Amino acid sequence: MENSRRKFLKIASHALGGTLAAGVVAPLVGLAVHPLMKETVYGTEDFIAIGKVDDFPVGVPKKATITSSKVDAWNIFDGLVMGSVWVIRKDDNSLNVFSVNCPHLGCGINWGEDVKQFLCPCHEGVFDINGKKVSGPAPRDLYSFETKIENNNILIKFVSFT
Ligand code: FES
Repeated sequence: MENSRRKFLKIASHALGGTLAAGVVAPLVGLAVHPLMKETVYGTEDFIAIGKVDDFPVGVPKKATITSSKVDAWNIFDGLVMGSVWVIRKDDNSLNVFSVNCPHLGCGINWGEDVKQFLCPCHEGVFDINGKKVSGPAPRDLYSFETKIENNNILIKFVSFT
């Protein structure tokens, strides 16, 4: 009798310990796996207008905010901010449009007017005005976007790199 009671308590304590351990471990596993299942790149299938050509000075990078509309069930959300891009209008009116996110770990890059280069504040990544990597740990040049000009409007196919 004593032996079976001891056996029961042993099984019960193991079951309780296992349940408590699962309660701690399951959320940690979910925390680790969840980011892997998230969509990390999103964008637009169509071109989006980001401004008039004349809004962008020749040879000086200028940041533009990307907004779009989203239809969700019965609602239409206008002016949703999707991100930003750097726009460089060249002498011949052609364009370079780059992601504001560094291709290393995604920090926001800034234009350093004094040094005429894009600078990443996180790990000192440096890129020239054409988006080419100059120095730092980034594995590639800046991400660029497909662009076109229609009726003096700049249009881009936007993708967010996060
Ligand atoms: S995130 Fe830009 S250099 Fe690391």
